[in-house]
Amino acid sequence: MSMASLLRIIPSPLILLLISITISASESHPMQGICSVECDTELTSSSGKILIKQGTVVNAHHKVLADVYIEDGIIVSVRPNIAVGDDVKVIDATGKYVMPGGIDPHTHLEMDFMGTGTIDDFYTGQAAALAGGTTMHIDFVIPINGNLSAGFASYVHKAKKSVMDYGFHMAITKWDEAVSKEMELMVKENGINSFKFFMAYKGALMINDELLLHGLEKCKSLGALAMVHAENGDAVAEGQKRIFDLGITGPEGHALSRPPVLEGEATARAIRLASFINAPLYVVHVMSIDAMEEIAKARKSGQRVIGEPVVSGLTLDESGLWDSDFTTAAKYVMSPPIRRTGHDKALQDALATGILQLVGTDHCTFNSTQKAFGYGDFRKIPNGVNGIEERMHLVWETMVESGKISVTDYVRITSTECAKIFNIYPRKGAILEGSDADIIVLNPNASFRISAISHHSRSDTNVYEGKTGKGKVEVTISGGRVVWEEGNLKITSGSGKYIKMPPFSYLFDGIDKADAAYLASLRSPVHRTGAAY
Ligand code: URP
Ligand code: ZN
Ligand code: ZN
Repeated sequence: MSMASLLRIIPSPLILLLISITISASESHPMQGICSVECDTELTSSSGKILIKQGTVVNAHHKVLADVYIEDGIIVSVRPNIAVGDDVKVIDATGKYVMPGGIDPHTHLEMDFMGTGTIDDFYTGQAAALAGGTTMHIDFVIPINGNLSAGFASYVHKAKKSVMDYGFHMAITKWDEAVSKEMELMVKENGINSFKFFMAYKGALMINDELLLHGLEKCKSLGALAMVHAENGDAVAEGQKRIFDLGITGPEGHALSRPPVLEGEATARAIRLASFINAPLYVVHVMSIDAMEEIAKARKSGQRVIGEPVVSGLTLDESGLWDSDFTTAAKYVMSPPIRRTGHDKALQDALATGILQLVGTDHCTFNSTQKAFGYGDFRKIPNGVNGIEERMHLVWETMVESGKISVTDYVRITSTECAKIFNIYPRKGAILEGSDADIIVLNPNASFRISAISHHSRSDTNVYEGKTGKGKVEVTISGGRVVWEEGNLKITSGSGKYIKMPPFSYLFDGIDKADAAYLASLRSPVHRTGAAY
C-alpha cells in the first residue's frame, strides 16, 4: 500500500507521528508540506513578533499601502514605515495583498453521516484550510440522538487537535422542552449563536415545518440565527424512488431526483415562515437560480435573509455526475446537487451584486472507497464535496480575476461578512489594531493549480482537479504564527482556539421595533359593547 493511501485511512494523531518520520524520506509525497511544530523552527520568530512590509492592506471598507506589525497573536499597528528590531520576522509583501484570513462559515469535519464519517478531521481539514488561506471555520455540531449537550461534548473532543481557530453552529434534529432549554444553554454558556434546520435527509436529520416554527421562535428569543438546508425532503424521497425505479442507479440519478424546483420551494417556505415569525434567516449552500431568486425577492421586500453560495455551486456544473467513470462521477455528489451550467454564473452575479452575501464550502469530504458505498444505488453515495483548501483561490479567480468584484469585496465575501453575521467582528475579519493576527499574503501575479496529488485533505479525489488560476496565497498567519510559507505548513495540534460567538448580531437590530409596529398594526382586540341578546 502506498504511503498516500495509508495516510488517508489512519487516524490523525498517528499521522502526526508518521509524517515527522517520513517527511524527509519522501520528497514527492503529497503531504510533504505538512510538518508538526518540532520539525521546523524557521517559519516564526521566536519572539512572536512579525512585520509584514509594504503590502496593500485590504479590509472590506478600505485598502491602503501600509505595514502590519504583529505581537503575541494580535495586530498592534497598521501604518506605513514601521521600524522594528532584529528580533522581528519580516515578510516582504511588496506588490502583494495583505488580507484578513478567510473564514469558512460552513464545514463538516469528522462528521458521522450516511453510515460513515467525513474523512477530514479537525487536524487534516484545518491543515488544508491554512494551506489555502482560511484561518477560521465554523463547523456544525450534530446532536447525539437529539441531545445537544452530548453533541457539543463530542465536538469539543473532536476539535482538541485543532490547528486554527474555529466556532460551532448546532443542528436541531428533534423538538421537545429539553431541546428548547438546551438551546438556551448553548447560547448563554457555550458560545453558539446559530442553529441549523435540515429540511431534507428524510428519516435522518430532517425536520418538519412545525419544528422549524418552534425553532425560529426560539432562535429569535435567544438572538441566535436560524439556518436552513432548504430542499423539500419529502419530495426528494419521492424523486429518488421515481428515478431509481426508472433504472437510473448511478450518480446522475442524484441530480435528477432532486431538481432545483425542490430547492426553490423549500427556500421560499423557510423564508415565509421566518417572515411570519419576524426572525432573521440564513440559507446555507444556495445552489440554484430558483433558491437565489427567492432570496432576492425577500431581501428586496426588506426581509433579513442571508444567502450563502458555496464554491462548488459557483465554479462547477453537473456534467461531472454523468462521467462514465463511477469514482469520478460520485465525487460530485452533494446536496443540494451541483446544477446545470447557467446556475453557476447566476450565483456569481448574485454574489457580485449583493443578493448573496458570503461564500462557504460545505467541506464534507469522503474518499472514493466511501463514495463507492453507493455503487449501484446513488441514494447511498455519501453526500459531500471538498473545498476548504480551494475556496480562497477559486473565489479570487472566479470573482476578482474575472473583474466581477473588487479586492475589498473579496475580503467582505470571504471573511468580513461572516465575522459580522456571527458577531465576532472586528476580532476576526479585519486587519485593524487589536484584531486577531489571522492574515494572508496573496500574490496576484503567481498562479495556483489544484490536484488531489498536492492537496492537504485526506481525500484521494478533488472535485476541482486540474483547475488553475492566478492569485496565490503565499503566506498564512494564524493567531500570530506563520503557518504557511513557501509551500510549507507548520502547524501544531491543539493550537487552535474555540471562538465563542455572542448572540444578537446586527441582524437582530430593530427586530423589537418591527414587532412593536406589527402589534400596533393589529388594532385588536376590538373592545366591543355587549351583545344585545
Ligand atoms: O452534501 C452535503 N451538503 N453534505 C453535507 C451535509 C449538508 O447538507 O450540509
Ligand atoms: Zn446541508
Ligand atoms: Zn453542510
